[in-house]
Amino acid sequence: TTFHQPINNGEAFNRVNEELYANMDWDKLGFDVIPTDYMYIMKSNSDGTFSNGTLLPFGTIDINPHSTVLNYGQGLFEGMKAYKREDGGVQLFRPEENALRMRMGAERLLMPAPNVEQYIDAVKHVVHANKRWVPPHGKGTLYIRPLLFGSGPVMGLSPAPQCTFLIYTNPISNNYKGDTTSFNLLVDDKLPRAYPGGTGGVKNISNYSPVFQVVKEAKAKGFSDVLFLDAVEHKYIEEVSSCNAFIVKGKVISTAPTLGTILPGITRKSIIELASDLGYKAKERKVSVKELLDADEVFCTGTAVGISEVGSVTYKDKSVQFKTGADTVTKKLYGLITGIQTGLLEDTKGWVVKI
Ligand code: COI
Repeated sequence: TTFHQPINNGEAFNRVNEELYANMDWDKLGFDVIPTDYMYIMKSNSDGTFSNGTLLPFGTIDINPHSTVLNYGQGLFEGMKAYKREDGGVQLFRPEENALRMRMGAERLLMPAPNVEQYIDAVKHVVHANKRWVPPHGKGTLYIRPLLFGSGPVMGLSPAPQCTFLIYTNPISNNYKGDTTSFNLLVDDKLPRAYPGGTGGVKNISNYSPVFQVVKEAKAKGFSDVLFLDAVEHKYIEEVSSCNAFIVKGKVISTAPTLGTILPGITRKSIIELASDLGYKAKERKVSVKELLDADEVFCTGTAVGISEVGSVTYKDKSVQFKTGADTVTKKLYGLITGIQTGLLEDTKGWVVKI
């Protein structure tokens, strides 16, 4: 990739970011808003193609009040990370998977989407432009947030005549909770996250705010997050608010199948492959709450959370503890995937893309 020089909008912008950058304590990263230098924007043409993508100084954007994203929630997001290797180089993890998932979501919401090449090229450009914000090796990652939304105006209920593809970045810690403690999950048996025929299987922006209320209540009771059950039988585990869930029982690792209500996570997919390499049987199948409570280990996977061990699960009035710590499959899988992502382990699978 040949990187073009981004445009800079002058002093004010520089002052804010320079001060922020100068005061960055890379050891104290969490999951806070840290605006970086540049964002990437590309708009769709009337024929549904995208062109003339550009890097702009990070900042607010104009939005048409008639836009479909504001009125009807026509929007998708993606989550990716840029990792710094020990040698200082920067790399991405399976970016084509994110590009394809965005295209799948765009089909569901009737939006045009950038092609895989355009998507990856845009990600490379925005990461390159914000390279100084990629945390030092081992201290965190540069989170990459691609958005695709209906920006063109409509009055009635119909898809937007124009869509905008926008990418911004934000440095975050390795663990999205900002610490190393494991998750204590509350199983919610009333409000499902997704419904058959709905949009749980794509990264629709409106899949996420409906969990705010339940998660807030759970956090007030001291839980770290909520594990949702299926909408029909309220019996099978689906997802945690922002990540996929796995159980380990003996030599079998299981996670809910992607049949429309489960987000096909890229970490999820990679863990299934790595678990098989380790000699475990990795199964995508319905997992009942009963089996969950009977598991040896439970863990969550996602771009933001990475691999997070689950210390306990509470369902109705029953709390169960799981094995955590050094001698777990979860830790082994964590070591393997983060090793590949950060360049400590050889990438024998072709998952890594260098910037
Ligand atoms: C991610 O893991 O990157 C996500 O997109 C989940 C988000 C709700 C933080």
